[in-house]
Amino acid sequence: MYKVAPVLLLLLFTASQVTYSATDGLLPNGNFELGPNPKSMNGTQVKGKYAIPKWEISGLVEYIKSGQTQGDMLLVVPEGAFAVRLGNDASIKQEVEVAKGKTYAITFNVARTCAQEEKLNVSVSPNSEPNDYGILPVQTTYSSNGWDLYSWAFQADAPKISISIHNPGVEEDPACGPLIDSVALKLLSNPQRTRNNLMKNGDFEEGPYILPNAATGVLIPPHVEDDHSALPGWIVESLKAVKYIDRDHFSVPGGKRAVELLAGKESALAQVVRTIPGRTYFLSFNIGDANNSCVGSLGVEVYAGKDQAKIPYLSKGKGGFVPANLRFKAVSDHTRVMFLSTFYTMTSGSLCGPVIDDVRLVSVRNPRRVLMN
Ligand SMILES: *[C@@H]1O[C@H](CO)[C@@H](O)[C@H](O)[C@H]1NC(C)=O
Ligand SMILES: *[C@@H]1O[C@H](CO)[C@@H](O)[C@H](O)[C@H]1NC(C)=O
Ligand SMILES: *[C@@H]1O[C@H](CO)[C@@H](O)[C@H](O)[C@H]1NC(C)=O
Repeated sequence: MYKVAPVLLLLLFTASQVTYSATDGLLPNGNFELGPNPKSMNGTQVKGKYAIPKWEISGLVEYIKSGQTQGDMLLVVPEGAFAVRLGNDASIKQEVEVAKGKTYAITFNVARTCAQEEKLNVSVSPNSEPNDYGILPVQTTYSSNGWDLYSWAFQADAPKISISIHNPGVEEDPACGPLIDSVALKLLSNPQRTRNNLMKNGDFEEGPYILPNAATGVLIPPHVEDDHSALPGWIVESLKAVKYIDRDHFSVPGGKRAVELLAGKESALAQVVRTIPGRTYFLSFNIGDANNSCVGSLGVEVYAGKDQAKIPYLSKGKGGFVPANLRFKAVSDHTRVMFLSTFYTMTSGSLCGPVIDDVRLVSVRNPRRVLMN
């Protein structure tokens, strides 16, 4: 035994010197459970660039313990007992080894703490694309406990990159600024269209990392905030996010994952597919509810070429789904297939909406022979 120990020690020592090589899941100390040495703290404020293990910080970063109060607000941390707060112009950064050329999605937990509108600037460096960073607004609360998981995707332009989350805001109260916890990374595969389905990732099985204990789903920001979609194949259009949900915490029609359209007509989920003008296509999908108490009329509108359909779905908020379809004739060599939620619905103070899943598109060679459903 004693002969093994020094080898192990050496291995551990070596491991702590190298850059972390990405695997799907939390980044090293991504949940901030390893904290600064008390000598590197002044109250809650972290002193020193490298005081938080595995991270590099700048600006006013605070180390927050769950249960700590701010004014009359009790701060609750979603994972473990610690989180960080990014105050005025503060950032956290970590270097990660990745596969150059591949697309990755970051997932992280954010809570807003003050009334002001807050924003986060998520970026990676190096980055060959100019202005390729995401400014994610944190002003809308999508979940009821105040914490929301956000995702943001990027293409790795080098084998070693650094991921940075920055609060560009400058508030009068330096104790304002979002809390951050559970920073995770996932390599995104690039699902292909097949003969049986002309849509990519129509079952939504590929998407950002969902933390195993996070019951909130993951927000996928609109294209304007993230031009490398965290949902491969799909584009989140308009101004608001959609939510990526999993079977462990919600009801989903098929497989393990699906998408909840949260923001009524303010966000749409679209995919452009190659089509042959004049040919008839058959689009089928499931719509349902996530079993998250989202009660009411959760209609979905679907558009393809010049055709459209409105599918009503009356939700009791307890899970369930119905199959739906749209048959259309392509009018061009590219057709935009788009889904949006007709209504804007809330449940206990947070946005909710219909779930879509199992989107399948086939070309119909002999339109009369296809059975509807
Ligand atoms: C600790 O923070 C207080 C309040 O912001 C400040 O007055 C003091 O100078 C700081 N002490 C050190 C050692 O930085
Ligand atoms: C966001 O961060 C990137 C990388 O640090 C920076 O180049 C860019 O100017 C920032 N954008 C804003 C609006 O703060
Ligand atoms: C909805 O959630 C409840 C409580 O978690 C669970 O018992 C029930 O099986 C779920 N229903 C569906 C259709 O997933």
